[in-house]
Amino acid sequence: MARKKESRMRALVVYESMFGNTHTVAERIADGLRRRFDVTVVAVDKATADQMAQIDLLVVGGPTHVHGLSSERSRQGAHEVAEKEGSGLTMDPDADGAGLRDWFHGISDSHETAAAAFDTRIDAPAALTGRASKGIAKRLSRRGYRVVATPESFLVDKQNRLLPGEAARAVAWGAELAEVVG
Ligand SMILES: Cc1cc2nc3c(=O)[nH]c(=O)nc-3n(C[C@H](O)[C@H](O)[C@H](O)COP(=O)(O)O)c2cc1C
Repeated sequence: MARKKESRMRALVVYESMFGNTHTVAERIADGLRRRFDVTVVAVDKATADQMAQIDLLVVGGPTHVHGLSSERSRQGAHEVAEKEGSGLTMDPDADGAGLRDWFHGISDSHETAAAAFDTRIDAPAALTGRASKGIAKRLSRRGYRVVATPESFLVDKQNRLLPGEAARAVAWGAELAEVVG
């Protein structure tokens, strides 16, 4: 007799990324979540209402810009940083899309779906750098999501490159999150 397939929970990881660091972290968090979830990873302006409606966990992350979430101006600033000679930076394929700030205005309210926030930021005390994840978590709560984890930061160096070990830490964070929700 054929056994009934167990239905797995679904998670959506939504990221905003200019230089690719937050995108990389989003993919690694998804790797950690896959132990317990079917996971989709999408750039911020590609998340559809259908995807948003069919999930058990929403994870949202973005780069810290000017101590918080990016703005149109700071995203333009990111383009200028990358264009500087010798920056070594390339823009993420979806870097021209909308930022999380605008995205949050357009999404529907949730009824207590579990959620978590992360960011990338410079490796220095958070009191100096700011943390986009704090603002992301606040917006998730305002939208009715149940924030189930402390907002987490993954660190880059002053040349905007992800520090060694941070990708592995993102996998571990995703796995921990899966344990909490799954
Ligand atoms: C315009 C601009 C402003 C930034 N402001 C901050 C900041 O206030 N605090 C911080 O820690 N990092 C700041 N950063 C660094 C970014 O947070 C860091 O490079 C991040 O990893 C970028 O993520 P991404 O590669 O996904 O775009 C800033 C970067 C840019 C381009």
